[in-house]
Amino acid sequence: MPKVELHHHIEGAAPPAFVRGLAQEKGLDLSNIFDAQGAYDYADFLQFLDIYEQAVRPLTSPEDYARLTRAVLEEAAEENVVYLETFVSPAFCGGGDVAAWKEYLHAIREAANGLPEVVLKVVVTAVRHFGPDAAKRSAVCAQESVGDFVVGFGMGGDENAGEVRDFTYAFDAAREAGLHLTNHAGEWAGPLSVRDSIEHLKVERIGHGVRAIEDPKLVEYLAASGVVLEVCPQSNVSLGVYPSTAAHPIAKLREAGVRVTVSTDDPPFFHTDMTHEYMELARAFGWGLEEARALNRAAAEAAFCDAGTRADLI
Ligand code: ADE
Ligand code: ZN
Repeated sequence: MPKVELHHHIEGAAPPAFVRGLAQEKGLDLSNIFDAQGAYDYADFLQFLDIYEQAVRPLTSPEDYARLTRAVLEEAAEENVVYLETFVSPAFCGGGDVAAWKEYLHAIREAANGLPEVVLKVVVTAVRHFGPDAAKRSAVCAQESVGDFVVGFGMGGDENAGEVRDFTYAFDAAREAGLHLTNHAGEWAGPLSVRDSIEHLKVERIGHGVRAIEDPKLVEYLAASGVVLEVCPQSNVSLGVYPSTAAHPIAKLREAGVRVTVSTDDPPFFHTDMTHEYMELARAFGWGLEEARALNRAAAEAAFCDAGTRADLI
């Protein structure tokens, strides 16, 4: 099945061998972030964020991001992913400097042009635990690069850092520039973080959002309003939000009429890919091709690209 993926972090998709190789070239010792099998090694979410940021350390130039983009898109193409929105953070690409950001973006775009079987779009992403001022700088980078490649603005990182309201300025700026909006919420923080993201940041999609299930009124609201959840089941299981795919609320959310979609988040960190995500859902809930097609269609309909590109996916 040709697949659409909406929730994917470019650095989080870096194959461990790629990061190890780049670190070696730059004389960086990153042996502490890998386990004996060479996979990323972390015990909980905060350690995951730390390992993630260490894995970013060897990525210091636009050319490094071009190489990363090629590695990531080759893997996506193998999964028959035909449309991919990836989160890219100005904080990691030039430290929030607009001119540097544009060079990184240009390199990523050129690399993506070399793999036309995957349509790549960028969602510019603030990192929540870097604070509201850094988020504002990311929003300025987003404003300065909005177009047919940069289609959205979002925020990831530690959901419990600061208040959602603290980031209103950045999201307002991105919305005024014409960008679509999404925010990580309802992964580590409860349903209130989903409500706050909708009320204060006025997002159209929620990254994860699965803990909305703890608030039946919110579930009703999500179903009625059409806010889309970017659900990443294997990410949630690997990080311990839920003990197993069978215990994951995706099926209940879907039955309640919420627009759910399926993504990988950070595939090698969670030993997953798009095929594996659908296979695990099939195993846990008995879902077949019909359900997979419906989930994929929901993702296509919620894509942040222009209407013409979206229509080609549906
Ligand atoms: N950055 C990369 N993956 C993330 C996740 N699952 N939650 C928050 N921030 C992230
Ligand atoms: Zn994420």
